[in-house]
Amino acid sequence: MSLLTWNDSFSVGVKTIDQQHSGLFAIVNELHAAMMTGKAKNVLGALLDKLVKYTVEHFAYEERMMEAAKYPNLVTHRAHHTDLTKQVGDFMARYKRGDGALNIELLRFLSDWLTKHIQHEDKEYVPWLNRNSGK
Ligand SMILES: [Fe+2]
Ligand SMILES: [Fe+2]
Repeated sequence: MSLLTWNDSFSVGVKTIDQQHSGLFAIVNELHAAMMTGKAKNVLGALLDKLVKYTVEHFAYEERMMEAAKYPNLVTHRAHHTDLTKQVGDFMARYKRGDGALNIELLRFLSDWLTKHIQHEDKEYVPWLNRNSGK
């Protein structure tokens, strides 16, 4: 069973961003499936790297869009992104050192963070992005 299932409540109505968010869901699910089937540590590590890379790229993309749209809460939004990036980075460092196990709690934490962030903070910038693109 997938950890995250995409539905319309996650859509922010901006195609590129919806595609990136559903891409993130897919990687979290891939990681979850690999963990549940007991895949080797190097497989999990590679998937974690993929998730971190994709997340960092997505955050940078969103921040560029918010900046271009002169979104007034950019600083706060960026702080949320930085906070998660740091938490995941700390986990990665522990994991690679061998003193942090990849477990369901981490995946639940990531899933909760992602879904809440999309449904709250991300949705808040949408009117600015749309106004900026002249829609
Ligand atoms: Fe996002
Ligand atoms: Fe965001």
